[in-house]
Amino acid sequence: MATIRLGDDAPNFTAKSTEGNINFHEWLGDSWGVLFSHPADYTPVCTTELGTVAKYKPEFDKRNVKIVALSVDGLESHKGWVDDINETQNTSVNFPIIADEDRKVSELYDMIHPNASDKFTVRSVFVIGDDKKVKLIITYPASTGRNFEELLRVIDSLQLTAYHKVATPANWKNGEDVVISPAITNEQIPALFPKGHKEIKPYLRMTPQPNLD
Ligand code: BEZ
Repeated sequence: MATIRLGDDAPNFTAKSTEGNINFHEWLGDSWGVLFSHPADYTPVCTTELGTVAKYKPEFDKRNVKIVALSVDGLESHKGWVDDINETQNTSVNFPIIADEDRKVSELYDMIHPNASDKFTVRSVFVIGDDKKVKLIITYPASTGRNFEELLRVIDSLQLTAYHKVATPANWKNGEDVVISPAITNEQIPALFPKGHKEIKPYLRMTPQPNLD
């Protein structure tokens, strides 16, 4: 197992999923991707998480992001559990769940942290860019359900950086001013940021969010 770091190529794999066999890179195509693991099927926190992701799917679609979940449980278990998720979370699971019984993908992506549990995956999240590079890694313990609003917020930030050469300040929310990347010279600013900018310090230059009307 190699350590995966930000900026690395996201390792490719093939795996069984509730929506058929997946070749990760082919499945991603030109989209961004979120690969996220959960500890086990038929567990309470995971049930709420997968139901929540199903409800947020249109938000991921809007951002050209495909979502795939993973645990080390098998396909039959996943399929039975999906019925429970749909029933209890009042939703319809609309993304694939990988059945990683042989732990091939979990090990490739370092999702098993033996001092937390040697049997189950932790709550890992990998955001993959449309260039197949790893853009974000977050790891939560089994006992803490993830905040998918935060995941969307980070994806918005990552896409602003990728497409508009800006960064986002602390606690930034969609619609608020953003930070002009230090690599941009003052001379380049008018062409790149026609909405104007404010120089608070030479290294701290703010501009209205560029992708809004
Ligand atoms: C859960 O999803 O509820 C859970 C899974 C493993 C350990 C603790 C909680």
